[in-house]
Amino acid sequence: MSPVKRADLEAVYARLSGPLFRGPIASARTVEELEAARVEALGRKSGLTELLKGLKDLSLDEKREFAPKVQALKAEFEALVEKRRAELEAAADEASLQSLDLDLSLPALAPARGRRHPLAQTLDEMAAIFGLMGYSWAEGPLVEDERHNFEALNIPEHHAARDLQDTFYLQDMPLLLRTHTSPVQIRTMESVRPPLRVICPGRVFRHEAVDATHSAVFHQVEGLAVDKGITFADLKGTLQTFLQRLFGPKTKTRFLPSYYPFTEPSADVYASCIFCSGSGCPICKRTGWIEIMGAGMVHPNVFKAVDYDPEVWSGFAFGIGVDRVAMLRLGVPDLRLFYENDLRFLKQFDESLL
Ligand code: PHE
Repeated sequence: MSPVKRADLEAVYARLSGPLFRGPIASARTVEELEAARVEALGRKSGLTELLKGLKDLSLDEKREFAPKVQALKAEFEALVEKRRAELEAAADEASLQSLDLDLSLPALAPARGRRHPLAQTLDEMAAIFGLMGYSWAEGPLVEDERHNFEALNIPEHHAARDLQDTFYLQDMPLLLRTHTSPVQIRTMESVRPPLRVICPGRVFRHEAVDATHSAVFHQVEGLAVDKGITFADLKGTLQTFLQRLFGPKTKTRFLPSYYPFTEPSADVYASCIFCSGSGCPICKRTGWIEIMGAGMVHPNVFKAVDYDPEVWSGFAFGIGVDRVAMLRLGVPDLRLFYENDLRFLKQFDESLL
């Protein structure tokens, strides 16, 4: 290692550590100027890089002495560049804020919060009550075959319900849009052995003329309990508990004889009017009662269709319309409002209302 070489390096170092590079970095007025100053001071062709390369020609002792000084100089330049960059960026932010004329002391706008659709809220709450009574939740396909939607439910081929007037059939296929969620009960019984308690919530379809109280799409929560020795009294107790939980503890229930192919005996279930508590008002058409669900004891033919022995097992089933319950509880006079999804309508229904 020649002393000349070392003296050269010392000279370069002395030049670099003066104001030659520090000045332009500290006084750069734009990011572009700063970048140019950085390349001058630290770039591949800079004196500093040459100095770093030259270190390898020094003796070990010289390196020990000289290298840390050069490294420190490099670190100092880098820090200077970053400091100036931060200053320039802060100044640019400040300038753009000024030009936007923003008042940062104003409170922020609350972001619009989504919420569950009132029908979904109603359905969930109904399902939750049955959940407390030990029912599990089952779902099935919206497109069904005739066996699950009709045959296994003891609805014979020439029954009026199968009419094109009531049912949407798929073109050129033996399939249809389910007209109730009872097929989910059939599917459940096909896959599990009794005893069982299940609710089948979901969307159903009927070929109806749409008006304030009818829709071609609506929602049901149907239910099924099967065990040994289940009686009509169990059905009454279950539904009474459910309706009191849903509409309030003073709610009375009334069961009137009815007909469904898949239950025998069958009943239509009424709740005392939630608006007039039974004294008579326009909502209950002055009867004091509101028809709320269909129910009955599972017909032996339904059990036979799923290979349950009707001599051993008995059970009850019920079906309740979600949309009607939502209309009653939320005071919505027209079913169509639930399906138009006008935000001005939907925004009124906070979860806390239900
Ligand atoms: N499946 C019936 C319907 O859609 C409702 C129902 C279920 C009635 C169970 C009685 C028993 O109308």
